[in-house]
Amino acid sequence: MHNDSLQTTASLDTSNVSRVLSGIQPTGRFHWGNYFGAIRQYIELQTAGNAFYFIADLHALTTVREPERLRSFVHDAAVDLLALGLDPAKATLFVQSDVPEVAELTWLLMTVCPMGLLERCHAYKDKKARGLPADTGLFAYPVLMSADILAYDANLVPVGEDQVQHIEVCRDLAGSFNHLYGEVFTLPSPRLVQGGGRVPGTDGQKMSKSYQNTIEVFEELPLQKKKIMRITTDSRPLEEPKDPESDHLFALYSLVAEADDVQRMEALYRRGGFGYGEVKKALVESANHFFANARARRAELEADPERVQEILREGAARARVQARTVLARAKQACGLSVVPEISSSDGGL
Ligand code: TRP
Repeated sequence: MHNDSLQTTASLDTSNVSRVLSGIQPTGRFHWGNYFGAIRQYIELQTAGNAFYFIADLHALTTVREPERLRSFVHDAAVDLLALGLDPAKATLFVQSDVPEVAELTWLLMTVCPMGLLERCHAYKDKKARGLPADTGLFAYPVLMSADILAYDANLVPVGEDQVQHIEVCRDLAGSFNHLYGEVFTLPSPRLVQGGGRVPGTDGQKMSKSYQNTIEVFEELPLQKKKIMRITTDSRPLEEPKDPESDHLFALYSLVAEADDVQRMEALYRRGGFGYGEVKKALVESANHFFANARARRAELEADPERVQEILREGAARARVQARTVLARAKQACGLSVVPEISSSDGGL
């Protein structure tokens, strides 16, 4: 696996960007870590090229085993993404399993994927190291992810740090397939989202569901306030100056407050003579303000589930056209038959 393909914002030349793609797992309501660490950047990139975003329900099947929960997670993810600014007029939003071509492409890629490559991947490796049983779905997870990327000829994949390894697997598989059968696949580059791992939770550790330290983006306001007022702080006396850089409360405030308010708060920290309670109140207010429009949009979308379904249907139809072309190219190249009726008129699109 090679790491030379990594791009960051600084080195990104958007003039060459033709297709951005990323997948988001529907495993529960989004929290600030998901939003500020990833989703915000994905949404910003919707104008940088022909963007595809999907809700990775097939991947979620490796962890969510209750059908009703999975269904509602998928719906919530769609509503949340749209409320947060994903614009179906600019980007294609769809549900992964609505494009069955991807599952077929996964098989083709499996046949060029050495076991050892997957044995090194962290999701499987970590589970094994903890002595837990892993299913083949989890083992082959990076192959499905590769198919996700290759099916749409995506060349730029914004992801968090933990997914970079999977993009390298994708590049390896695409390279092997191309080597064997000719230039079938476009090799993607990962784009590391800025600040990805740096959103702290209410206890100061990285915000993550597994640490139970999250603040959900669309949490009921009274509940959100309660959580914020309970954020752990050090017990330094009121008068002492405090270092804003090392304070997670300040870090959270900086995410949602206006730039000049952040500056004022920073000065207050350095001066001392105030309590964390005041910062928490300011954080509650800034958070309300920051997400107010998104909350209003979310309420509108919740009242119109048909509209959400339609956006996903249209998205899947657009995505399928592309996935079908790539799958046909791949099947043709490796000697499988491509049945014309099926490849061109299936699905009533
Ligand atoms: N595995 C990714 C995650 O857990 C989600 C995902 C699935 C994805 N397929 C993808 C991300 C393709 C980028 C490209 O975050």
